[in-house]
Amino acid sequence: MDTPHAAAPLGLDEIATLDFRASAEAEQIGQQLKDALGFGAHYQAPRLAIARSLAVAAAPPAAPSDGRRAINGRTLFGPGADLAAWVSLLVEHAGRAPQDRQELQAWVRAHWARGMALLGPMLEEAGRDSTRFWRLIAEATLPHGPDSTAEQPAAPGGAAPPPGLIALRLGSVSQDAGSGEPIRWPLNAPGGAANAAFMGASGTGKTRTVTAILRELRAATPLPLLAFDFKGDLTDKDNALDRAFGATVLNPVEQPIPLDVLALADRSPTTLALAAQRLRDSLSTLKGAGFGANQKELLAEAAERALRQHQPCRLEDIREALVRLYAERGRKEDGAVATLRDLTRLRLFAPEHAPAEFFARSWIIRLPAHLPDLVKVSVVTLITDALDRYANSLPDAPTDAAGNRALRYAVLIDEAHRILGERLPGLSGLLRVSRSKGGVVFLSSQSPDDFSGEDDEFLDQMGLVLAFRCNAEPGAARRILGPRCDLAALARGEAWLKIGGEATRRLRAW
Ligand SMILES: Nc1ncnc2c1ncn2[C@@H]1O[C@H](COP(=O)(O)OP(=O)(O)OP(=O)(O)O)[C@@H](O)[C@H]1O
Ligand SMILES: [Mg+2]
Repeated sequence: MDTPHAAAPLGLDEIATLDFRASAEAEQIGQQLKDALGFGAHYQAPRLAIARSLAVAAAPPAAPSDGRRAINGRTLFGPGADLAAWVSLLVEHAGRAPQDRQELQAWVRAHWARGMALLGPMLEEAGRDSTRFWRLIAEATLPHGPDSTAEQPAAPGGAAPPPGLIALRLGSVSQDAGSGEPIRWPLNAPGGAANAAFMGASGTGKTRTVTAILRELRAATPLPLLAFDFKGDLTDKDNALDRAFGATVLNPVEQPIPLDVLALADRSPTTLALAAQRLRDSLSTLKGAGFGANQKELLAEAAERALRQHQPCRLEDIREALVRLYAERGRKEDGAVATLRDLTRLRLFAPEHAPAEFFARSWIIRLPAHLPDLVKVSVVTLITDALDRYANSLPDAPTDAAGNRALRYAVLIDEAHRILGERLPGLSGLLRVSRSKGGVVFLSSQSPDDFSGEDDEFLDQMGLVLAFRCNAEPGAARRILGPRCDLAALARGEAWLKIGGEATRRLRAW
């Protein structure tokens, strides 16, 4: 028997006659799409927008209903089975049925507005050319690698049970070079950090060693990997990280990285201000010498405005906010604006996946040598910032009775010397939170000198330092490994090894 106040369930016949209205802004973009693409009817652009928004897993933000034109459900979604299919997609996206007609109208309006906000910039990018626009749409919705429900690990936010102690071999031999005693690294043991720095001259075996450790780690616990590949060798037959992790390989120039890279965990004034400051700090590291105090202040203010007004917020929105702010203050455009213009020349990110989804899957991001340094550094900076923000929003990683931590994600920056001099705030943040949040961060670089530009604290966050042969300044090597260690005298396959607070040992890795 029905309770007296229960509303009658919403039927398809009723939805067919309901009026749907967009926001004025969405309506305006819709008109531009209709003109540029030659749509004959008013429902085509809204359908495209709603479909585009439904492809983004996160819930869309609410949108106002200040548009002029109303479209009824039958026209907007089509008759019969078409209408039923659209309503099913909306319900599936929301995870439940709408409570009443107003809620359904609000959902449609929100998808409509978000979809238009995604399509509008694409139309501009395509120069309003329909062929180029359709190509961009097709690229933006290409599938990204294996289905996340199949072989992939549980979402890193989910509390996978701690896997017990994970003690990994360090290379194919992994023995004390003197005694022959086997050596293992207990990377999730209580107290230690699961971060590691690998060093050595070119060809000494850093990449082979670090990928072997990662493959063994993946076999021990199902965690996703985020790897930055500057040389293109992480996916070759010896390293094979793509196969081990079921990772999707991305080249951000050919295909934008499908991450809402500026997503925030919440929209409180503090979160917005902190995110804006972090973005200011990250962006001002990009041009080496950094920006002046005035530029930084303007950058932070523009970032905060853009983050408040746009969801998802894109780098282009920050660029536009900065241009407007300069105009408001009567300032001539300078290096700060130029940096953002350079950065947004390529569409590096497309806000398709929320961080929780993106970081639950494995990605290998190729940053080949011919890319401008600005692009390489900003891709690493913005993604590590996003992961740092996301990791901080998670509860601490669960531990087992012995205190061994569950691990949630692994990050590899091979050839980190290409970005280490930049003092990336997100990377330092990530190293710091690994211990509590169950992160694993591996950096490899040619020499201990590459780490000397970073704060001392940077190396203090390493649970393991492994140095193959190289001709480093003795100062930096000594600071890290102790006075005994001569890096130039190491044999092939040998490395100096320091695990946590233990004494430095000579390791035969391979
Ligand atoms: N575990 C191993 N087993 C066998 N050979 C190895 C091993 N590790 C390294 N090598 C040899 O060393 C070569 C270089 O290894 P790797 O690419 O890992 O070096 P790298 O230190 O990453 O060099 P670069 O700095 O140039 O990237 C390999 O091609 C291989 O010949
Ligand atoms: Mg290498």
